[in-house]
Amino acid sequence: MKGIILAGGAGSRLYPVSKVYSKQLTLIYDKPLIYYPLSILMLSNIREILIISNEETIPLYQKLFDDGSDYGIRIEYALQTAPNGIAESFIIGEDFIGKDGATLILGDNIFYGNLDFIYKAMEKNDGATIFGYRVNDPERYGIVEFDEKGKAISIEEKPAKPRSNFAVPGLYVYDNDVVNISKNIKPSPRGELEITDVNNVYLNKGKLNVEKIGRGVAWLDTGTPESLLQASNFFGVIEDRQGLKVACIEEIAFNKGFIDQSKFENVLSKIPKSLYKSYLEKILKER
Ligand code: DAU
Repeated sequence: MKGIILAGGAGSRLYPVSKVYSKQLTLIYDKPLIYYPLSILMLSNIREILIISNEETIPLYQKLFDDGSDYGIRIEYALQTAPNGIAESFIIGEDFIGKDGATLILGDNIFYGNLDFIYKAMEKNDGATIFGYRVNDPERYGIVEFDEKGKAISIEEKPAKPRSNFAVPGLYVYDNDVVNISKNIKPSPRGELEITDVNNVYLNKGKLNVEKIGRGVAWLDTGTPESLLQASNFFGVIEDRQGLKVACIEEIAFNKGFIDQSKFENVLSKIPKSLYKSYLEKILKER
């Protein structure tokens, strides 16, 4: 299974900061937003990851992660020339995906809690698995409707009159068909290749699983100043209480055995004196 993080877009709701850098680099408590989706892919044992973004931002991600070897993973980068839609990820990523399945996570989506729902989805290698998460403001999302037996029967992108409160989070697990399906959909009236159209192709073929995520999992989507502040406060509270960091990619790489102790020490030696470094030193000492 290959992993893709789509992390471009205009981020204009964050103006004026969006004039100079991308939303996915803004700080969520103590680390850039993109660490959170990247950590989800790593926790799912996905070690080949493509980051798709725009011309200005790719060099910044490269500066952050390089080729991923510090974290025992392989990171490639690809250009999206304009925000032509989420489904374009699979056209841009065609060579990277090759004959494998692909899990896409949006660079501004954060998941926290018991992640078994993701691990289970990755075990299937046929069709597509997407998720349904109850939200208060369904008109802002892709919305899935279920029949009385809990089977998904429709998905609509940002409906004016939502048929349910179940939003589709920005995490999608697909088999290899997603490449051809994405190539064959047409742009929507807003000019984008919609991920909802891809999901509807799977739905119509009877190959779409929609798994509800329970309320014990936090799904945060971070497009506005208010939602960034909420996410920062959320992780500030959790990290302060536990003395453990969320989405610390060096720690995840070490705990999962993607890097050994000498590599971990080598990575540590390159980090300047900071609270982040002290944390990693503590992790090493407690081993
Ligand atoms: O967050 C979940 C929602 O994400 C889903 O429920 C919707 O079905 C899905 O369409 C999407 O809706 P958004 O309105 O949140 O999509 P947005 O255009 O904001 O794009 C999500 C992220 O992906 C954003 O950080 C920018 C990036 N992006 C988006 C597009 C369309 C790109 O990098 N390239 C693109 O072409």
